[in-house]
Amino acid sequence: MCGIVGYIGSKDAFPILIKGLQRLEYRGYDSAGVALITEASNLAVYKTRGKVSDLESFTQHKDVSGSIGIAHTRWATHGEPNDVNAHPHYSQSESLALIHNGIIENYAVLKEDLMSRGYTFKSNTDTEVLVQLIEYVKVSNNVDLFTAVQLALTQVVGAYAIAVLERGHPDCIIAARKSSPLVVGIGDDEYFLGSDASPIIEYTNRVIYIDDDEVVRLKRDSEPRICNLNNVEKSHEIKELEMSLSQLEKGGFPHFMIKEIFEQPNTVRECMRGRINVERNRVALSGIIDHKERFLNAKRIIIVACGTSWHAGLIGEYLLEEFARIPVEVEYASEFRYRNPVLCPDDIVIAISQSGETADTLAAAELAKRQGAFVYGICNVVGSSIPRMTHTGSYTHAGPEIGVASTKAFTAQVTVLTLMALTIAEEKGEMSKDVFEQYVQELALIPDKMEQTLSVAGYIEDFSSIFTYAKNFIYLGRGYSYPVALEGALKLKEISYIHAEGYPAAEMKHGPIALIDREMPTVVIAPKKGMYDKVVSNIQEIKARKGRVVAIVTEGDTVIRDLADYYIEIPDTEDCFSPLLSALPLQLMAYYIAVVKGCNVDQPRNLAKSVTVE
Ligand code: M6R
Repeated sequence: MCGIVGYIGSKDAFPILIKGLQRLEYRGYDSAGVALITEASNLAVYKTRGKVSDLESFTQHKDVSGSIGIAHTRWATHGEPNDVNAHPHYSQSESLALIHNGIIENYAVLKEDLMSRGYTFKSNTDTEVLVQLIEYVKVSNNVDLFTAVQLALTQVVGAYAIAVLERGHPDCIIAARKSSPLVVGIGDDEYFLGSDASPIIEYTNRVIYIDDDEVVRLKRDSEPRICNLNNVEKSHEIKELEMSLSQLEKGGFPHFMIKEIFEQPNTVRECMRGRINVERNRVALSGIIDHKERFLNAKRIIIVACGTSWHAGLIGEYLLEEFARIPVEVEYASEFRYRNPVLCPDDIVIAISQSGETADTLAAAELAKRQGAFVYGICNVVGSSIPRMTHTGSYTHAGPEIGVASTKAFTAQVTVLTLMALTIAEEKGEMSKDVFEQYVQELALIPDKMEQTLSVAGYIEDFSSIFTYAKNFIYLGRGYSYPVALEGALKLKEISYIHAEGYPAAEMKHGPIALIDREMPTVVIAPKKGMYDKVVSNIQEIKARKGRVVAIVTEGDTVIRDLADYYIEIPDTEDCFSPLLSALPLQLMAYYIAVVKGCNVDQPRNLAKSVTVE
């Protein structure tokens, strides 16, 4: 949610900032802006509603010289997306310019106080309050900017990652973080700032992750100075990034989403690498093995997550209960964190998050940790906030996911949960040796079967265009296919803006069947090894009401083929692994429908990739 980028060094800052914003645009894309200290020593701010490309046009004949700058791409929280509310914001005297990611919760009180002291405001944002507050603190205490930021932030309630420039100080950027990610990149005599490493990786793979309540000063010719709000110096290890630049580019695909859909056979292979040994029929997830006793004694597992990660969590519930025989509850992180949940010492809380930064999931995991639960993270972004606060966990190793609609992160999360369930099942002796070995062998084949599933993309593209007329869709599945139905519906609605609902197939007769008519397409996920016969009955009920059916079936199925209007085959596999295959045609269908409708699939309206605010 909102992207921050900064540069200080000897090169021209502007092109670096623009490229950085383009890489961060997936985080928010309703307005963009830049602040530079130009060669003429101006503190110049240029900002506009729209995308980074609009900012580029807007700045075409402006002075964008200078080797120090900060820039921002916005996902609006306070105040509509327009030129005035875009970041950076000037302070009253225009001697400071600030960019901000997050929400200042007590901004109204602070604003009233500042107004009583003569400060006036141009925008509706909480961010402008922050920059005015810093200026007020600086002037009234006669301190430098670093100290002013420290003092001002002690008055602030909320979440922020900020960066500030000061007129007359062309050698220094001050930045700070609380509950919003902030990374410093260390180059040769130059520093970079980013909301994540994507704008930095092109220049350096050496980074420092700033922690909550820390303020950092980036100054030419000196080491970064990092202190907490009480001015205690903090030392930080420099970490090496493993990400590569090519992972951040589209590689010949028209959109990141379709590239990421097609990456899935490889991302699942990567996710299993070193964790599954087919020759020896072994599965070992180190996060589990290192804390074996915890899992052997666990009375309950609670999974907290949001959106697609929550759907992966539901599949995790089925897997962990079936394989490891541990009761599992799956909670929306946003509900869990506010409902005073009962947690026991033998509970394990699993927080699932692609970004590792989702505000609700992070808060739910922190709450669980405070209440004494053992907290396990399943995250994709290395070094993000959730893996840094959990007791242990597993990375999904899916590589950077740029498309706002989550695809490869979902299948990687399901893969980790599968490995987790198998590891615990084996350690607990809950599964017969034969079944365990059969599952290990089959799981190893899944990436190849994903490749086979994706080979029908052309057929899905052809028939998907027929559905652009639809206003509503229903997705149905049972057992392991029920969370897949939810995920399929979410994919369609978020990128094509067609309303879609997922249901457990048997629930259809309890209400949704009333919606079925010629206009209403129903997508049914019906692999052979699920509760197949019952799902066939559901399809017959839909057809009896003239509904149109798209069915995901196991290859060779002839019964549903004759019933459905369209059918997509997936290779045969165990029921428990079928989500790893059946999710793919649903992703493709959503993608092709959205493309035909002319939607911006990588940056759907009103959404952002990582939801770092409530
Ligand atoms: O980064 P996270 O996995 O924590 O994100 C959770 C949701 O915001 C995310 O899955 C969202 O629902 C996606 N846009 C779904 O495609």
